[in-house]
Amino acid sequence: MSLDCQEDFLGIDRFFQEAVYHNETDLNAASSIEVEIYEHESMYPTFAKIALESGNLEVAGMFTAIAREEKEHADLLRELYPHLEVTDTPETTEARRLVAQIEEQMQVVSTDPRGLRRALETALEVETIEATRTYPAFAKLAREQGKEDVAKRFDEIVHSEQRHMQWVQRALDRLVTA
Ligand SMILES: [Fe+2]
Ligand SMILES: [Fe+2]
Repeated sequence: MSLDCQEDFLGIDRFFQEAVYHNETDLNAASSIEVEIYEHESMYPTFAKIALESGNLEVAGMFTAIAREEKEHADLLRELYPHLEVTDTPETTEARRLVAQIEEQMQVVSTDPRGLRRALETALEVETIEATRTYPAFAKLAREQGKEDVAKRFDEIVHSEQRHMQWVQRALDRLVTA
């Protein structure tokens, strides 16, 4: 297969599916669980594979660790909402389709240095949005709605996403200066 030289390298930039903002904390929780599961099952395992096949074991290990923690984020919320119905939105379905497409082209993605770099840049974008915008906003709304238990869980997730953001930034810096 020939290399696709478009700037949006193999669609990696569009992997991210942001949790959707609602005026209801319960709906924000459902959207968060959905996105965290997608990141856990789909996006980060594929990023780990790109890193592994690119020969960067350190970054592969980091993506695997992040994938595991995204599941913990989903579980934190799920504990408070055991019966909440969570289904993939069309956006998440499309994101999963793009990830599957990357998997099919793994050979091409992992032999082009831009593949791993774009995966890291995408992860940085994801983690930055979650750590600085999405989850702080969800925590604030939960508090305003008197749902302190949910707000505390969102606070925990904010701290974890901040760490992910720092890990990914460091990995990207190392890759760029290598
Ligand atoms: Fe997360
Ligand atoms: Fe994260």
